[in-house]
Amino acid sequence: MLNIGVLVSGGGTNLQALIDAQQSGIIKSGKIVTVIADRSGAYALKRAESAGIDAKEILKKEYGSGAEFDKALVSYLKEMKVDIVVLAGFLSILGKDFIAVYRDKIVNIHPSLIPSFCGDGFYGLKVHQAALDYGVKVTGATVHLVNEITDGGKIIMQKAVYINDDDTAETLQKRVMEEAEWQILPRAVEMLCEDLKKAQ
Ligand code: GAR
Repeated sequence: MLNIGVLVSGGGTNLQALIDAQQSGIIKSGKIVTVIADRSGAYALKRAESAGIDAKEILKKEYGSGAEFDKALVSYLKEMKVDIVVLAGFLSILGKDFIAVYRDKIVNIHPSLIPSFCGDGFYGLKVHQAALDYGVKVTGATVHLVNEITDGGKIIMQKAVYINDDDTAETLQKRVMEEAEWQILPRAVEMLCEDLKKAQ
């Protein structure tokens, strides 16, 4: 069984999908051992606590630089013996030192079909607003490995969602979460855990 660490910044509905998938057996090759938030008051930590999972705040604003913040994260993840890191609505950008420690073992969920509407500055509702402004008829979600390029790592799984004429960024965000993100994130995490277990 691999140890999974989940990094969050907000509400944590993707974290909840992971917790539910663990309980239903969709995730069976790994176990969430800690959930870390980079800002205070993230509701995701309450979800972790309710599920009996270690919940920790490592606040970005308390560190002088990105590198120091990354070091604090790695140090706690190592203390918790984390093998795989899942970014589930985590809005800080990780630096090269963090990525080097967990190379090919970090996954992120992004709420569009990469390579559309991704990269620096594209997060949360902004992604959906950009899709609506462009006028695309199909969007979706992507789970990918994290490398030094924002949203640029290898794609693991994608799911498409059709856009309705009357969609707003909010209605689209909700549908992309329900129909795509919460479906593919747990499956991609299980796939990665299985693959890493085989490689061990
Ligand atoms: C999700 O839609 C996730 O895809 C997005 O933030 C939301 C977090 O929601 N992530 C990004 O935009 C990353 N670039 P959650 O806290 O309810 O899981």
